[in-house]
Amino acid sequence: MDAPANLFSPLTLAGITLPNRIAVSPMCQYSSEDGFATDWHLVHLGSRAIGGAGLIFTEATAVSPEGRISPQDLGLWKDEHIAPLARVTGFLHAHGAYAGIQLAHAGRKASVSPPWETPRVVPPAEGGWTNVLAPSAIPFAEGFAQPHALDSEGIARIKDAFRAAALRALSAGFDVVEIHAAHGYLLQEFLSPLSNHRTDEYGGSFENRTRLLLETVETVRTVWPAHLPLFVRISSTDWTPGGWDIDQSVELARLLKARGVNLLDASSGGNIAGAKIPVGPGYQTAFSERIRRESGLATGAVGGVGGPVVGARPRPHARAARDVLDRLVHRQPLRRRLLARDDDVDPVAAAQAVVGHRQQAVGVGRQIDPDHVALLVHHMIDEPRVLMGEAVMILAPDMGGEQVVQ
Ligand SMILES: Cc1cc2nc3c(=O)[nH]c(=O)nc-3n(C[C@H](O)[C@H](O)[C@H](O)COP(=O)(O)O)c2cc1C
Repeated sequence: MDAPANLFSPLTLAGITLPNRIAVSPMCQYSSEDGFATDWHLVHLGSRAIGGAGLIFTEATAVSPEGRISPQDLGLWKDEHIAPLARVTGFLHAHGAYAGIQLAHAGRKASVSPPWETPRVVPPAEGGWTNVLAPSAIPFAEGFAQPHALDSEGIARIKDAFRAAALRALSAGFDVVEIHAAHGYLLQEFLSPLSNHRTDEYGGSFENRTRLLLETVETVRTVWPAHLPLFVRISSTDWTPGGWDIDQSVELARLLKARGVNLLDASSGGNIAGAKIPVGPGYQTAFSERIRRESGLATGAVGGVGGPVVGARPRPHARAARDVLDRLVHRQPLRRRLLARDDDVDPVAAAQAVVGHRQQAVGVGRQIDPDHVALLVHHMIDEPRVLMGEAVMILAPDMGGEQVVQ
């Protein structure tokens, strides 16, 4: 009989076998110019490979220039972007990790400043852009750009951009592509009835709202080889009545599975400003678990799974899990940052590291809820590792019938 799976069991997805089930989740680094990967990416991602994660994702990587969140985002909209990314994947492979890339279009949340600057829309004179695109001309929130509703040619261009970027990702040596359809960026904006008010075949019914994501998956799957895994990240819920929810996520998972998606990465939130999100240890893992159980699609669990949750439970593998997660985050050059207790400005830490810390304190995006901050600060004191912006994703979190995190 096979031993029950644990965090350190290999995981076969499509034609590759990951050495373990620990993935480094995508994290924006705001460290690119004109979309190019830099030495920052090599060091940031490379150090996680040395730490032992089985799969390491790049940050959200824009499929077109206007699909960046900030002018400093990573991109893959031209062939020149391939070589510096190939350097990164070469390093990851040399150190035993598989390389994943998250392909993204920021939709209506585009052309904003990096989070360590005062939040604002960046104007074209400073490298921003005005062709901010969305399903409907509804801004995300005050202080964000007024988006333009995509027409049918624009929608076709989006799908082409994802396909072309996936081909470039293949040339750059990536093993896994994840399509970003979460956190209120373009593809999720189409999914949610709160951000999609279209009256054509891309809006209205569940079938219409999911059409763009499904067509994007189909076109990417035509160029992304069958032996390489294709992931999709969704926000399992908008955390807002009348919005996208877990029932729709389960239904969507079935449709994605039928189109050759190998894993659904179950995050949440980001599409509705001010939504109340109960951020805390493992707060999204129940979504991952339900989607997996009801759709039969493998899932990833993300959100507070890298620290307190895994360590807190007296599971058989908890001790070992803690050790590996410790290695991922502690034995690397930014350790000093981990010793901080709050988000005081650390003059030595790089801004990217500080923002990781801050974003974790407030959840992804700009929705600051004092209760959540208090909760997380509490965990930070107990578990200093969460200070680093060290987002961990646990793949296929099935411990022989038990969830590893719950
Ligand atoms: C600094 C930072 C940048 C992030 N950038 C991205 C991103 O590019 N794409 C994405 O899907 N999620 C992004 N996230 C969300 C993480 O991937 C992860 O889902 C989230 O941080 C929850 O996991 P955690 O509780 O372990 O941090 C980011 C999170 C942080 C802290």
